[in-house]
Amino acid sequence: MVPVSVEIPLQERSYFIDIGSQLLDALGAHPALPKGTSALIVSNETVAPLYADRLLAALKHKYGIVHIVVLPDGEEHKNWQTLQKIFDVLLENGADRKTVLFALGGGVIGDMTGFAAASYMRGVPFVQVPTTLLAQVDSSVGGKTAINHPLGKNMIGAFYQPQLVVCDLDTLDTLPQRELAAGIGEIIKYGPIYDMEFFSWLETNMDALLRRDRAALAHAVKRSCEIKAWVVGQDEREAGLRAILNFGHTFGHAIEAGMGYGTWLHGEGVAAGMVMAGELSRRLGMVDAAFVERLRALIVRAGLPVRGPRIDEADNAGRYLQLMRVDKKSEAGEIRFVLIDGPGKAVVKPAPDALVREVIDACCA
Ligand code: NAD
Ligand code: GLY
Repeated sequence: MVPVSVEIPLQERSYFIDIGSQLLDALGAHPALPKGTSALIVSNETVAPLYADRLLAALKHKYGIVHIVVLPDGEEHKNWQTLQKIFDVLLENGADRKTVLFALGGGVIGDMTGFAAASYMRGVPFVQVPTTLLAQVDSSVGGKTAINHPLGKNMIGAFYQPQLVVCDLDTLDTLPQRELAAGIGEIIKYGPIYDMEFFSWLETNMDALLRRDRAALAHAVKRSCEIKAWVVGQDEREAGLRAILNFGHTFGHAIEAGMGYGTWLHGEGVAAGMVMAGELSRRLGMVDAAFVERLRALIVRAGLPVRGPRIDEADNAGRYLQLMRVDKKSEAGEIRFVLIDGPGKAVVKPAPDALVREVIDACCA
């Protein structure tokens, strides 16, 4: 398979996303690798045994000294305590400003490594080597880095771009099926917000994606990255447009926080959240029932949830609203939703609480 590259166009902070097979072992010779005195691979206890030795061997060609830090696995560890372990290893090994960080793992590792790179000595270079579908189509691209707070998801972080992203599709072979489906959740979102032709392609190729057909995965990763590049290139710091990438996330983040981080996967929360946001759009007269049904049907085919969980027995909708007010898109306590204003076009708007309550009541188990 011939690798393809997608550029994130950000003037002096521009970089490429390489997508293909057999890229991991060749990474040490990549011409776009940052120069450096040493490297630190950040991974977790699941991914490190699978791929860290290979990345280490590849990087030894480029950086004489390469260390590894292995973090605990899981969204529930995306916090200060785990982040501190990265700084501990950097300082214990005398890492300087020319130390390059490599994120080897899914979105949790990518977000934490990026935040560590943004803040260690006020900024060191970093490279994303995403090993989940979700990270390859979304989280490794665009420079959002963060950790969670018990009161809200991704609340503490920074915008900080990697210098290179390398998506080796071969690493997806070891991904559990539930995680593959979660990644497809983030792929589906690109249809309603921007590209209904891609949505139709997903309808045709969903079975191929689920059986990990290499060509189908390559196209899905490439098209997702192209759309994200187009958005991030215009609005790196989410002054406006970039918020459309959060379709389904306002409800989804409430699900993740409300259930306890790690109970629902991020992509699962986004999936049910997209149905809720689609239904809210319908009740606001912006799309018809046929569109919401088409969205729901594709999410079902991906094996993802289309109904939100109950997160509070006494006042479920009230708890969703409470958690959603902490969303980063909220302004002065007013929740702003990514809504679909006709298939393929997203807008960010508030909605009346009473209507949101109706949607939550209708869309939760
Ligand atoms: P994850 O990082 O928790 O990875 C999912 C699971 O798969 C983990 O158990 C991991 O150890 C395992 N894994 C990873 N690669 C594997 C492989 N190749 N083989 C076997 N197992 C493997 O979850 P995720 O879905 O990748 O990312 C979700 C996170 O990404 C969330 O924290 C979310 O907030 C964040 N996110 C960030 C952005 C952004 O723009 N920065 C965008 C979307 C999501
Ligand atoms: N995943 C949303 C964003 O990158 O903006």
